[in-house]
Amino acid sequence: MLTGKLVRLRARAMTDLDNSLRWINDPEVTRFLGGQTRYPFSREQEEAWLTAAVLRTHPPEISLSIDTLAGSRHIGGIGLHKVSPEDRKAELGIMIGEQDCWGLGYGTDAIRTLLRFAFDEINLNRIELQVHDDNARAIACYLKCGFVEEGRLRQDRYKDGAYYDTLVMGILASEFRAP
Ligand SMILES: CC(C)(COP(=O)(O)OP(=O)(O)OC[C@H]1O[C@@H](n2cnc3c(N)ncnc32)[C@H](O)[C@@H]1OP(=O)(O)O)[C@@H](O)C(=O)NCCC(=O)NCCS
Repeated sequence: MLTGKLVRLRARAMTDLDNSLRWINDPEVTRFLGGQTRYPFSREQEEAWLTAAVLRTHPPEISLSIDTLAGSRHIGGIGLHKVSPEDRKAELGIMIGEQDCWGLGYGTDAIRTLLRFAFDEINLNRIELQVHDDNARAIACYLKCGFVEEGRLRQDRYKDGAYYDTLVMGILASEFRAP
């Protein structure tokens, strides 16, 4: 269990299934996720994904649920993916599924809490992520956490009849620790 100022990051549980299935089928949530989330998810698919996450909480895939500290409400998930023991790096992914919880600081706190774990507990050196360039809320959140823009994948995604760029962002352990 990783405890921040606003949220707690805990192992995923099968009791998360109803919320996870609702969020992964909510177009407002998934419009910035892309990939497979373009398609409707069946309960069986989501259950298979969740089962794998429940059974494996260690590298190379660390996938955790986000609960609010106040009220212990399950509001989303966060993870470190493709953790590399050689390069000491991983990819960060996050989804706050409850729309009424957007913009309240939960995402920032969840990311800071996971970065502290990544750099200070499991000795990673670099965390990277990709974000749609029209996802202003996510970009603002990542900048607040200390990520910097490292590159732009041009016309990387197609949605709503147009191509969009994807930003590559990253943060190093030395930057996270800098005063
Ligand atoms: C992206 C996400 C993780 C951010 O978490 P959050 O809890 O909503 O974000 P926070 O409240 O911590 O920070 C968001 C910041 O963006 C700002 N913001 C909100 N909407 C914005 C907008 N439309 N344009 C610019 N900034 C915006 C907020 O004001 C806040 O900054 P502030 O604290 O300085 O005021 C969450 O909204 C989410 O999961 N969204 C749906 C899925 C998604 O986009 N996942 C990320 C895929 S890369």
